[in-house]
Amino acid sequence: MVVDGAQSAPHMKIDVQDLDCDFFTLSGHKMLGPTGIGVLYGKEEILNLMDPIESGGEMIDFVYEQEAIWKELPWKFEAGTPNIAGAIALGAAIDYLESIGMDAIHAYEQELVAYILPKLQAIEGLTVYGPQDPRQHAGVIAFNLEGLHPHDVATALDYEGVAVRAGHHCAQPLINHLGISTAVRVSFYIYNTKEDCDKLIQAIHATKEFFNGTF
Ligand SMILES: Cc1ncc(COP(=O)(O)O)c(C=O)c1O
Repeated sequence: MVVDGAQSAPHMKIDVQDLDCDFFTLSGHKMLGPTGIGVLYGKEEILNLMDPIESGGEMIDFVYEQEAIWKELPWKFEAGTPNIAGAIALGAAIDYLESIGMDAIHAYEQELVAYILPKLQAIEGLTVYGPQDPRQHAGVIAFNLEGLHPHDVATALDYEGVAVRAGHHCAQPLINHLGISTAVRVSFYIYNTKEDCDKLIQAIHATKEFFNGTF
């Protein structure tokens, strides 16, 4: 069981032992860290059974003509010169997040979601996907505006100074399950404020006005 935690680890406390997953991954650039680095957690007994898929410096113990013996974990999987600067920067990002506290981060995002979700739900022609109860909704909200293509909505919101993402969000099976082709997605993090939420709502109204007549 591999858990892709790219979208959870930045937002809440994760205990891989409590989850009892075999593997857990996270991505540095989604938690205030640099790009090109992340974390792969794996159960030690499974990692010990696995062969490395990359070879290079620092991961071998002995090399013979016909075979090689790999070093112990974690070196076995860390072939070649590592992304040293990235690892230090990711460590600093994690220290920073932990200094705020993952529970505090989660609680703050929940506060923003509780603030914005009813405002989004109240907009005519807007469909919010996922749980409608703010207490069950994460700080990532996907929606569509009736009659408008999500890419048009995203471009119009951009003109209003609000950056969102449009598309299938690397989740095509879910998008198919919802019976839609794409959606707009707004994501909150610790640097967002209630003023940002208000700006989004104003920008959605401005977008609706801009496309007035196409509804
Ligand atoms: C759930 C999820 N998994 C994986 C990724 C990809 O991470 P990375 O760009 O670090 O490969 C993303 C976003 O890019 C994501 O949202």
